[in-house]
Amino acid sequence: MTSDSLWKEILEYGRWAPSPHNIQSWRFRIEDATTVTLLYDPERLLPDTDPSGRFCMVGFGILLELLSIAASPHGLKVVASYEFEDTYLDPKKVGLQPLARLRLVQRDEAEKESFDRQLILDRRTSRLPYDDRPVAAPVLAKLSAVAASYGHLLEFSSDPKDVAWIVRLNAETMFFDMSEPLSRNEVGSWIRYSRAEARRKADGLAAYAMNFPGWLMGLFVKHNWLFRIPGVYQFTRAVYIASMRGTRTVAWISGPFAVHEDWENTGRMMARLWLTMTSHGVYLHPFGSVITNGKAHKLMVDHFSDSAQKRQHDLWMLVRLGHSDLPPKAWRMTLDQLLVD
Ligand SMILES: Cc1cc2nc3c(=O)[nH]c(=O)nc-3n(C[C@H](O)[C@H](O)[C@H](O)COP(=O)(O)O)c2cc1C
Repeated sequence: MTSDSLWKEILEYGRWAPSPHNIQSWRFRIEDATTVTLLYDPERLLPDTDPSGRFCMVGFGILLELLSIAASPHGLKVVASYEFEDTYLDPKKVGLQPLARLRLVQRDEAEKESFDRQLILDRRTSRLPYDDRPVAAPVLAKLSAVAASYGHLLEFSSDPKDVAWIVRLNAETMFFDMSEPLSRNEVGSWIRYSRAEARRKADGLAAYAMNFPGWLMGLFVKHNWLFRIPGVYQFTRAVYIASMRGTRTVAWISGPFAVHEDWENTGRMMARLWLTMTSHGVYLHPFGSVITNGKAHKLMVDHFSDSAQKRQHDLWMLVRLGHSDLPPKAWRMTLDQLLVD
């Protein structure tokens, strides 16, 4: 193997890492056979909807964990060290910025990887209807155990009333957030309305992956006032809620989520939660608006106040979980596009 080829093999898995709005802010510079510099593109962050960069950093945490899993068949892991000025992602910087040095290091016996790296390629977000089956209790127990091993608490409900309440809260919050120009413009800039645009840019939220007609999404983003007309709003919200029919399980996660290290750790956990789901044929669909919108967040916390006593940290993630048809694959940039000289 040449000095580049092992890294290229590993990074080929990493490029399938999920990121908020599929922004793929990462870039890689291969230094030598064991070292890569991980960089970020400040133009591919979300300064208006994720001002601290915490969710973008969760994406980097996921990437780091997936790279390490991808290296495991070679008896290796990927270790990240933050040796540069920035440990926080800064959207005000100009040009690509170094974030961390990644090194390939030998794994010892106790660090044997349990995941098959094929799961990285099979993992997807599913915004399709689910098939009316709640997620099986042993799978939920496994997911809770993964979260607990990272110091997080994963709670869930398969009570139809809770599920319907959360699906509706998410829909109302998403519509409210999109009526605000700041959020709408930032999210709108990442929406890819046609299949051709999604393929050409190879990033962003493709309407087909969102399971929403591109033309309706275009109207929603570019002529949002239309959706404040009574009747039009109710109709579109009903279409959106119907797109999630068959959902029988929702889950939410709380844990340390204040500083850079927390966000990376959270991302690493999320990678392992997601692959656990993939290995059991379970899909997830995050409901980010409920977490980031202050009013919806409080409603959510108050609604589940019974279990709030066990909760030592704030919620940072809410998802619906279930089984669906194979969701469409969201495009990714090619490795050549992600590699920097
Ligand atoms: C930290 C994080 C937060 C996300 N939040 C949302 C969300 O609020 N709503 C949503 O529909 N998808 C959300 N996603 C899913 C991404 O949009 C998705 O991973 C990306 O578009 C790539 O698609 P894939 O997961 O099918 O590969 C989130 C992903 C990550 C990593």
